[in-house]
Amino acid sequence: MKQYDYIIVGSGIGGLYIGLLAKELGSVLIITKGSIADCNTRYAQGGIAAAIDKGDSPELHFRDTINAGDGLCNEEAVHILVNEAPDRIADLVNFGVPFDTLNGNIALTIEAAHSVPRVLHAGGDTTGEHIETTLSRKVAESKIEVLEDCLATEIIVEAGVVKGIKALDCRTESSQEFGCRFLILATGGAGQLYKFNTNSEIATGDGIALAFNAGAEIVDMEFFQFHPTALHLPGVTSFLITEAVRGEGGVLRNVEGHRFMPDYAPEGDLAPRDVVARSLLYEMQKTGSDSVFLDATHLSPRVITTRFPHIYRFCLEQGLDITKEPVPVAPAAHYMMGGIKTNTWGETNIAGLFGAGETACTGVHGANRLASNSMLEVLVFAKRIIEKTKKPSRRAPTTSKRDEVYHLLTKRESPRVRPVLNLSSLQQLLWDKVGIIRDKESLAQAANTLFSWQKSLPKPADRSSYELSNLILSGRLVTEAALIREESRGAHFRSDFPQSSSKWQRHIVFRAD
Ligand code: SIN
Repeated sequence: MKQYDYIIVGSGIGGLYIGLLAKELGSVLIITKGSIADCNTRYAQGGIAAAIDKGDSPELHFRDTINAGDGLCNEEAVHILVNEAPDRIADLVNFGVPFDTLNGNIALTIEAAHSVPRVLHAGGDTTGEHIETTLSRKVAESKIEVLEDCLATEIIVEAGVVKGIKALDCRTESSQEFGCRFLILATGGAGQLYKFNTNSEIATGDGIALAFNAGAEIVDMEFFQFHPTALHLPGVTSFLITEAVRGEGGVLRNVEGHRFMPDYAPEGDLAPRDVVARSLLYEMQKTGSDSVFLDATHLSPRVITTRFPHIYRFCLEQGLDITKEPVPVAPAAHYMMGGIKTNTWGETNIAGLFGAGETACTGVHGANRLASNSMLEVLVFAKRIIEKTKKPSRRAPTTSKRDEVYHLLTKRESPRVRPVLNLSSLQQLLWDKVGIIRDKESLAQAANTLFSWQKSLPKPADRSSYELSNLILSGRLVTEAALIREESRGAHFRSDFPQSSSKWQRHIVFRAD
């Protein structure tokens, strides 16, 4: 078995940045199930938040993050996030990420629930793509070993310590094993659980399944963020329309032309994302429509074409000129706040196993992530992972007073009807029953169906069967956690428990039996 100091699974911003830092300390292998360019980072439009402006401060950034997180953020992690942010932005600038500038300074925009403009962007609305391209170029130049079409299938753990990883060569479907001292999972989220989502095809909960099956703890899975504004056109897959469009002055209108957000929240169009997503649903129900409109026609066409060139071009290809016509939009699943439970050094409860980015849960997002904090979280905690590996712990203490540990149920009622299992029936089930608004009945139906699907799954043998199996496990964790949490908080809204409750100011942690 070939040995490395570091094996990193995933080739988004987390995988690449960690690879670049790790290569200074030892041998590195990055494995990725598709090509190096297949990742969620590439889809990030809006940007990356950091208090770098004179009128801003880490304290303000801290306050906004905590407010968005609705009582469940880990304050220590948020302190680290906002204070280390400017240095990590400097790292990206040094790597060559071409952030947009205005009069010689980095340009900043505002997004929902930020009290001041603090979101950096590149290429207008292609921030993720610029970061990804810059880091991939650096990885290629530094000759880090990257194995493409290689899907991680099992973590090798001996006596509670990571020893390596089993992987599937997706081209030949043969298995391989690699040994390592440190294994870092940076596989992205599980947005493919939902029929409508803004994620890349790779977002199939792989890191969650790998970690859970190896005995790692998974936390906060009931908190799945839905982005309010994904393009909603018949026959066109969901496409993100960045919140920065509203940050620059775009407004939401229902199909009757009424500007409805001020009816729901004092912050109007820039209210927290969960509030806007639910308000869209209510307006759609009220008007019997499957979308609302994002109207930017009052902005100067030059602002639209220079700030949002990617969105402008994409919509134009669909026959929609957004400088002249409002954009039909509807909510779509966007970001998984929960994930593999880590401490503020990225460590899990398995020695040598680390989690980074969306697949991990450091606790910075709480019940609802502040816009554009996600790529920042990856950078800040990735750096800390590498620092930690210089002086590794034997075992990371990860449970806190606010954690409550559960196991997945081993028995559930048979569903009355069990749809044939495939990716689209799974996505439809989650969208219908475990979506923006949930209740006990819908969640129990989904939980029963997922349980029964999981029981009937044959042993995975290729990339798509592994992905489906990983999604079913991730879907079970989201659904069971959502059933347990009998309150509404942040992105988790139960119509049968519409208020938040102080007794639920704690985290639901799952651990395999
Ligand atoms: C957006 O551009 O609206 C998304 C930004 C984010 O999810 O942080």
